[in-house]
Amino acid sequence: MNLENQAGADVATMRWVGGTDGYLKMIDQTLLPTEFREIECRDVETVWEAIKKLRVRGAPAIGIAAAYGVVLALQTGAGTERPDFDQRLIEAATYLSESRPTAVNLFWALERMQKLAESSPDLSNPEMHKLLLEEAQLIEVEDLKMCHQIGEVGAELLSKGDGVLTHCNAGGLATSGGGTALAVFFEAARQGKQIHVYADETRPLLQGARLTTWELMQRGIPVTLISDSMAGWVMKEQKIQAVVTGADRIAANGDAANKIGTYSVALLASLHDIPFYIAAPSSTFDLSLESGEEIPIEERLPEEITNGFGKQTAPDGVDVYNPAFDVTPAKYIQGIITERGLIEPVTKEEVLRVLGSDPA
Ligand code: MRU
Repeated sequence: MNLENQAGADVATMRWVGGTDGYLKMIDQTLLPTEFREIECRDVETVWEAIKKLRVRGAPAIGIAAAYGVVLALQTGAGTERPDFDQRLIEAATYLSESRPTAVNLFWALERMQKLAESSPDLSNPEMHKLLLEEAQLIEVEDLKMCHQIGEVGAELLSKGDGVLTHCNAGGLATSGGGTALAVFFEAARQGKQIHVYADETRPLLQGARLTTWELMQRGIPVTLISDSMAGWVMKEQKIQAVVTGADRIAANGDAANKIGTYSVALLASLHDIPFYIAAPSSTFDLSLESGEEIPIEERLPEEITNGFGKQTAPDGVDVYNPAFDVTPAKYIQGIITERGLIEPVTKEEVLRVLGSDPA
């Protein structure tokens, strides 16, 4: 299967097909890079399953999918009374919010949908349903724009010929646009900076190996895959001049949760005097949390480690710990690249100054 022809340079992570009675089409990311297949989500349960199983993943993409999930959940409620419709919305949002706990974009998008309904109590159900679809589409379009802006802000930080390291996948597949960390690389490459990307494979689910390398190769950007344990050595060899990753939730003081392994990479970067940047939209900030200590960390099934991709690699019955994310303290982050500008130094004051009073 020719992936390049199917996906093109602009990866359509997901798209809504039709009107309020339509459905959500998304790339099944669990199959990449060997198979490019789109799945159709025609009910909220399928969206929930897709988020849970990482068919759609990455903080912004999860939020967008959840917003469309709400629209799907309300397709059968248009004939009921408005209070019943609103009750269904609350139930759908609660249900979707239980799919994954760490990426705040999920909760942010669901809250946005709920607030919209609360602010328009006089609309009929079909009118409200249409408005909710438009809101989901707006979230998607805004995300695309934010990716562009993040790319522009971040590309300034890179110099010609830089080697840059990234962890997990913060690319187009994780957003509706060109990604966050990868948007920085795409923009730097577009500006002729001739960067070279090193991608951690990102155990245990290999988002770096399967998705980040795939996206960069689609765009013709030089990329070298390394296993997670090689990052320190590659830094020591002076192949890396900057590290840029995404984030799933950033507390008010700048502590940032991202894919497990990011914390180790940040420490290694600090030891080698290499700037470590986070690239994330304002929708990834959770200003209700004072510090990263309060960020809920998802724990996933042991089988992801013992039986990754169908191959048993550990003895039966072995004890396993599988946190999906870790938190990098602000003191190890040189700057946070947002669509509203660069947060540097990473302090609460600077976070609030750049984001303004309205985080998203
Ligand atoms: O478990 P995943 O694949 O959803 O984890 C994704 C990440 O950790 C990304 O780096 C993060 O969501 C940022 S995506 C722009």
